[in-house]
Amino acid sequence: MRKACISALAAVAFTAASCVGPQSALDPQGPNAASLAWLIWFFTAICGAVWLLVMLTLGVALWRRRGLASQPGDPPLAPEPRAERRKKTVVLAALAATIVIITVLTSLSFVATRSLSEGRGDPLVIRLRGYQWWWEVTYTAGSPDRFMISANEIRVPVGRPVRLELSSGDVIHSFWVPSLAGKQDLIPGRENILTFTAERPGSYRAQCAEFCGMQHARMAMVVVALPPEEFESWLDGQLREAASPATEEEAAGREVATSKACAACHAIRGTRANGTVGPDLTHVASRQTIAAGTLPTTRGALAAWIADPQTIKPGSKMPMVPLSADELRAVSAYMASLK
Ligand code: CUA
Repeated sequence: MRKACISALAAVAFTAASCVGPQSALDPQGPNAASLAWLIWFFTAICGAVWLLVMLTLGVALWRRRGLASQPGDPPLAPEPRAERRKKTVVLAALAATIVIITVLTSLSFVATRSLSEGRGDPLVIRLRGYQWWWEVTYTAGSPDRFMISANEIRVPVGRPVRLELSSGDVIHSFWVPSLAGKQDLIPGRENILTFTAERPGSYRAQCAEFCGMQHARMAMVVVALPPEEFESWLDGQLREAASPATEEEAAGREVATSKACAACHAIRGTRANGTVGPDLTHVASRQTIAAGTLPTTRGALAAWIADPQTIKPGSKMPMVPLSADELRAVSAYMASLK
C-alpha cells in the first residue's frame, strides 16, 4: 500500500517535473543553438532536394523505358555512341555535385561544432561533473570567495557567455541543453568544454544524452537564465550557509539529517553534514527539481523521495534510510526550508 502511494505520488510529481521548460533544438534561445538549428534546416533542405532529384530521375527513367522489355529472340542491344556520351556526362556531373555537397556539409558541420567550445568575451566558468545519475555543479566565478558547489541545476546570467568545464566521476555522460547549445560528452579523466549564451530569461530543460546505466533517462536538469542583477543576488544567496531552522519541527529535521546516514553522503554547509558522495543540499529547496529532474521540489516529493528512493528511481545510489513517521515529517520540513 505504502509503495503504491509513493509510486502514484511520484507519477504525478514526475509529470509536473517534466514541465520545467522547453527542450528543443528547433527552438533556439541563444546564438550557439541558433547556429545548430540553422545547420539542421540546411542539411534537411539539401538532403531533401537530393532525394527529390533522385526520385524524379528514377521516375523519368522508368517512364521512358516502359513497354521496352526485351522479347526472346530479340537481337542483343548495341550501345549508341551519342547516348553513351550523354550518360557519361550525367554520371560525371552527379559525381561532381556529390563531392561539392559533401564538402560543403562537412565544412559547415566542422565550423559549427568548433564554435561550441570557442571562448568569447569574459565567460562565466562553471564546472559540471556527471555521476550516476546526477550532476555536480561548481561555480568558481573567478575568485575563491565566490566558490560554491550545487547540484542538478545551473543558473546563468542572460547575455553573458558561459563556459562549462565537463568531466565525469564514473562513466561517460553527455550534457545536452538543446535550446541553448549542442551536445558534449563528460568523460572520466578528461575535461571537455562547452560554451553557450542564453539570450532570454527562462528555464530550459537539459538531459544526459549518453546511455549511462539504469537511470540514464532520469538524469536531467534545468538551466535557468536570469537577468544579470538577479543572477548576482541569487549567487550571493547560494554562497551563504544553510538557513537556520525556523520551527521546532525543522530543528528536529536538522538533527535527523545531520546525525543519521544522510550526513555521510550529503553536505549542508553550516552544519556537521559534510559528505561529498551525493548532491550538496545547502540550498536544495531553491532548486526546481530533486533527484536530477525526477521530482519537483515540494515537501511532499522530498518526503516521498527520502522515504523510498529505490521505488522512485530504482538503482539510484541513494539508499533507504529507516526513519520513523515523525522523523520523516521533520526531515522533509527541514529540507523544504533550505531555500
Ligand atoms: Cu548520464 Cu546518461
